[in-house]
Amino acid sequence: DSTFMTATAHTNIALIKYWGKKNAFLNLPTTSSLSLTLDRFYTTTSVSPSETSTDTFVLNEQVCDATRVHTFLKILRTQLGDFPPLHVSSDNHVPTSAGLASSASAFAALTGEVVAYLGLDLPKETLSRLARRGSGSASRSFFGHFAVWHEGVDDDSSFAESLHAPDMPIALIVAEVSGQSKKVGSSEGMMRAMTSPNYDDWVKQSANQFDDMTAAVANADIEKIGAIAENNALAMHALNLTATRQPFTYFTDETQLILSLIKDMRRQGILAYATLDAGPNVKIVTTKAQAPEIVAALHDYLPQLKLDVAVSGPGITYD
Ligand code: DP6
Repeated sequence: DSTFMTATAHTNIALIKYWGKKNAFLNLPTTSSLSLTLDRFYTTTSVSPSETSTDTFVLNEQVCDATRVHTFLKILRTQLGDFPPLHVSSDNHVPTSAGLASSASAFAALTGEVVAYLGLDLPKETLSRLARRGSGSASRSFFGHFAVWHEGVDDDSSFAESLHAPDMPIALIVAEVSGQSKKVGSSEGMMRAMTSPNYDDWVKQSANQFDDMTAAVANADIEKIGAIAENNALAMHALNLTATRQPFTYFTDETQLILSLIKDMRRQGILAYATLDAGPNVKIVTTKAQAPEIVAALHDYLPQLKLDVAVSGPGITYD
């Protein structure tokens, strides 16, 4: 019975970031991006007919504001053909504290679930195009392991697909930084970043890094993957600081401390590189073998720091 079917999508962490839109209505990015899907964090979603005349939304068993869900379902109605109001129920297995984005897994799971509920069978690339309209990073969460989102020039050409990559012992440590950084949503943060005088250079540099990253992934060169990811992320965060209109940073003192600890570890020959998204949390690219010693070292300095080790995760699944 399709009514009881659920879709599960995992979060992804961009190693080459999406940080700017050339078309905000269609969510067309200014750059192509490349990500690793994580095993530990995911969203499971089911839909059923709404008992009211509007779309309704329950997240982790709590009734929530359905505005963003409804706006997205309206887009799906224009793209897939009209359907009656839905009740959307999601369970987020993503730390709810600042920084680890759940919109990627959430909009991917919702898209997959609605399409399956309607009895449609669409390729993942098409699903990714649809989910992009809900949240750009969601376009990459249909695919396991590595994915690329091609920036494209229009609705049709902007979609994600799997990046065929060898198995590799890559691990990603998520350090959940306590305390609050400035709360700037990703859409708003990108708009500000685009006012940086360095923005055009960042876009050009990102294209080169994308090519280098693709090669590093094909070679399963985790050291290079980490190094490129760190450069790309720090350049993204430098845009926020140099914005002409409302400069800002997601970094807290603890973020900075972790970044310097990672540098120290590197001097000791440990493979550890940082990437950061729209929040203060630090994600550390390393190998499965070295993850435990990095966790132990960070725990020594910051006993309160919450640390999770994630590895490569699967694409969307249906139960
Ligand atoms: C820093 O996908 O959350 O995580 O499309 O406006 O919903 P919207 O933005 P969103 O942005 C993610 C930004 C990022 C980098 C990335 O995931 O590529």
